[in-house]
Amino acid sequence: MSSCPIDTSVIRPLRFVAGQCQMLDQRLLPSEEVWLNYSTYQEVATAIRDMVVRGAPAIGVAAAIGAWFGARDIDTEDSAEFYRQFEAICEVLAATRPTAVNLFWALDRMKRFAHANLDRSVNELKIGLEYEALAINQEDEMLNRKMGRHGEVLLPDGARVLTHCNAGALATAGYGTALGVIRAAVAAGKRISVLADETRPFLQGARLTAWELQKENIPVTLICDNMAGYLMSKGEIDCVIVGADRIAANGDVANKIGTYTVAVLAKEHNIPFYVAAPVSTIDLSLSDGSQIPIEERHSREVTHMKDIQLAPDGVKVRNPAFDVTPHRLISAIITEHGVAKGQYDKHLAEMVNRN
Ligand code: MRU
Repeated sequence: MSSCPIDTSVIRPLRFVAGQCQMLDQRLLPSEEVWLNYSTYQEVATAIRDMVVRGAPAIGVAAAIGAWFGARDIDTEDSAEFYRQFEAICEVLAATRPTAVNLFWALDRMKRFAHANLDRSVNELKIGLEYEALAINQEDEMLNRKMGRHGEVLLPDGARVLTHCNAGALATAGYGTALGVIRAAVAAGKRISVLADETRPFLQGARLTAWELQKENIPVTLICDNMAGYLMSKGEIDCVIVGADRIAANGDVANKIGTYTVAVLAKEHNIPFYVAAPVSTIDLSLSDGSQIPIEERHSREVTHMKDIQLAPDGVKVRNPAFDVTPHRLISAIITEHGVAKGQYDKHLAEMVNRN
């Protein structure tokens, strides 16, 4: 099996060592940096479901790695039988989290590769699937860097940028989408400062965005989710940039719960609201955002902070993990192929079809 040399100065959530995948346990950040080892598809499926790894592109990469591990353990010499078992493995991985379309995109790509090569031996299929999974990982970081170069022109020197959740290196194979655009602006010599929404209930902003920006000395100020409106009204936010979990054909965007609220606030204050996401996040099969499946997570994420109980026993809880921001609130969608401003149905289809 091939493995990538580990450069520990660059933030990446996954690394490959001796036929295993190591994942930085994002549930423990920032207080502990623990790497967990994975070598079976069932383990990888659990890691995605439990959010050891999270963020749409990183979930897609992890699913591809899981599919490779599953393929590697299939015990048959018959290619057709191999493909039947491989599809079943992909179904298990697909059942982990419903909203981020990158998960399904990556599994479809792995299945397409296997299906297109069924005339090969099972051993050749296994090797090919390993390369395909590692390619998905490598390509993701490369296209984030391209996205960053396209998007950074939207951020003026001195911009105070609000972000929600974590769309950074930790949410991708590396570099990040929304935070990739910020990284690219900083690399271009602009003085950028970031306001990070804490992002209840899982605290991706407080725990992950603040952690990774601090590590790179990019100025970051943490705020509670309910402070953004006040700071906008005081003129302390120049633009908003977020990632996406799924973008419908008309440009409606599913992203971390609370994104919609921020977009409405940005509209009220005439502040540009940008979305950065790879083309693999665009789902042209859905005409609008109302069709995007929204994951509802366990009530304990809302009633507890680690082991501390915050709410009375038995209280009724809602915990949708994502919301949908209508395209009319979005100033631009940045992808690795460029920046779409308006006419999203036309521009997003063009970007997908360029792939
Ligand atoms: O529940 P999570 O942490 O997987 O949700 C992550 C987000 O909503 C991100 O903003 C999105 O996946 C984009 S990551 C580049």
